[in-house]
Amino acid sequence: MEFPTYRPRRLRSSEAVRRMVRETELDASDFIYPLFVKPGQGLRDEVSSMRGVFQLSLDQLPAEIDELKALGIPAVILFGLPETKDEAGSGAFAEDGIVQSAIRAIKAHDPEYYVITDVCMCEYTSHGHCGALDEHGCVINDVTLEMLASTALSHAEAGADMVAPSDMMDGRVAAIRSALDAEGFTDVPIMAYSAKYASGYYGPFRDAADSAPAFGDRRGYQMDPANTDEALREVALDIDEGADIVMVKPALAYMDIIRRVKDQFGYPTAAYNVSGEYAMVKAAADKGWIDEKRVVLETMLGFKRAGADLILTYHAKDAARWLAEG
Ligand code: PBG
Ligand code: ZN
Repeated sequence: MEFPTYRPRRLRSSEAVRRMVRETELDASDFIYPLFVKPGQGLRDEVSSMRGVFQLSLDQLPAEIDELKALGIPAVILFGLPETKDEAGSGAFAEDGIVQSAIRAIKAHDPEYYVITDVCMCEYTSHGHCGALDEHGCVINDVTLEMLASTALSHAEAGADMVAPSDMMDGRVAAIRSALDAEGFTDVPIMAYSAKYASGYYGPFRDAADSAPAFGDRRGYQMDPANTDEALREVALDIDEGADIVMVKPALAYMDIIRRVKDQFGYPTAAYNVSGEYAMVKAAADKGWIDEKRVVLETMLGFKRAGADLILTYHAKDAARWLAEG
C-alpha cells in the first residue's frame, strides 16, 4: 500500500489554516452597485424580473447612498429612465436630464460618494437602439460618437466621477476622452464596456431600464458570443484610446474572457454580473433550490479568481452584508 507524501488536505484541516493559504479575497470594496433613477416623488418601484432591485425617484437617493456607504460599497453606476424619449435620444445629454439631476442629488447629499454613469443612448431613444439610426435601421457609428461625447460631458459637468460607455461604437473612448479633456475634465476616468457581448442575459435589464430595442437586436454593434480574440482587439483599442478600466460583460458565461483580458493587458478589469445572471440566482433561491448566500459569494469569488478587480452587481448589498457577517 502506497501512501501520499503530499496531502493537500493538511492545509484544509481548520478554518485558521484555510484562511492562511487562501488565494483570493472578496471585499465590499470590489463592488459597484447599479442604480436605476427616474422622475417622480416617493417612488421605489421593484423591477418584476429582478426581485430586490428598484427604480428610484431622486428623493430616495440620499437614504440609498447612506445604506451603500454603511455597507462599504464604494460606488454606484447610474442608469436613467427619462420622462420622454425621442428619435435623437436628447434626454441623454440634457443638462436637466434624469442622470444629470441624480448626480447632483447624490453630490448635494454626499460630495465624496463615488458616482459612475453609464453612457449610452438606448434608454433615451424612442427606437431603443444605442445610437442614431440610418434609413435601414442601422446605427450610424460616427454620428453616435458625437451624441455619446456630449452625454459623457454632460455627466462630468453635473459632477460624475467616472463615465462608462456601454454602446460598443467604434472609437467612442477616444471621442469621449477628447470631449472631456477639451473642457478640463482630464481627471475623469473612463471605464469602457470593452468586451460587451450581444447577450440574452440582458433581458431583465431591459425591463429595469425600459430600453428594449423596438425592432431588431444589437448584434450589429455588440460582440458575437463565439469570439475571444476579437475581445482582446476591442480591449486593445479601448486602452489605446485612453480607457482607464476595461470591462467584460456579461461575466458568468465569459470567465475565460476576463482571464485573458487580465493576463494580456494587466489593466484594472471590471466584470459586469448582468441582470439575467442575477435573476436566475434569485429565482432558484426563491424556490429554495439553492443557498443564495453561498451561491452568490461563490460566484463573486469566481469573478475575482478569473481576474476581475471590480464587479458590477445587483447582489452588491446582500454580498456586502454577508461578508460583514463573516
Ligand atoms: C445599455 C446597457 C445594457 C446593460 C448595461 N448597459 C443593456 C444592453 O446593452 O442591452 C445591461 C446590464 C444588465 O443586463 O444588467 N447599453
Ligand atoms: Zn445601449
